Amino acid sequence: MHLIPVIAIDGPTASGKGTVATLVAEKLGFHYLDSGALYRLVALGSENASIDPQNGLEIGVLAKKLAISFKNGRILLNSEDVTEAIRTESIGLRASAIAAHSEVRQALIGIQHGFRVAPGLVADGRDMASVIFPDAVLKVFLTATAETRAQRRYKQLIAKGISVKLEHLLHDLQERDTRDSSRGAAPLLVADGAKVLETSELSIDQAVKKILDWYESKIA
Ligand code: DC
Repeated sequence: MHLIPVIAIDGPTASGKGTVATLVAEKLGFHYLDSGALYRLVALGSENASIDPQNGLEIGVLAKKLAISFKNGRILLNSEDVTEAIRTESIGLRASAIAAHSEVRQALIGIQHGFRVAPGLVADGRDMASVIFPDAVLKVFLTATAETRAQRRYKQLIAKGISVKLEHLLHDLQERDTRDSSRGAAPLLVADGAKVLETSELSIDQAVKKILDWYESKIA
């Protein structure tokens, strides 16, 4: 049995996983893995290298070579600060496309396991519970309706001064949901033993509290 506990939080795009997982990690003093950022980094790297998103073989090779580091809340790719550059909608869509290749997923396994450091880890993504950390102490599938998620993303972008149309966001989000759930390699799914947390009617604090309560009862 692995001694370092993992809380796996999976769910669709814009479900609030990142915010909730970060807060849970802070409360417990655990490390945090944003696995989506890794796929976004590979998406950006492959775009910079002008590789066709369909070319899984070449992107898999590139993914193994990328120098990725997380420092003080900033994300570096080959020593360049790309924290904001990887958050655009177009990189999100490209990330979803390149994440469908098993070569790319294989290339990122080692780096994800490397985040499992004492005293514990909160990992967020699509396949944290099913593939990367199947022995996680607690598995949560965090979700909300597509409309709620589109609304949340809309507010975030508007607050950042980025102008977008709600219906475009909803459309992109549904496109990514379909692709992330229907791909052959590690599709987004509710893993065996995972607890589903529907957050449409919950505040961030309520969602965090629920997960902390579940964790407490698992380790009690
Ligand atoms: O969580 P996110 O929106 O930052 O993730 C971007 C894309 O990366 C998402 O559309 C699918 C992919 N992804 C994945 O396939 N597996 C993960 N564990 C995390 C993200």
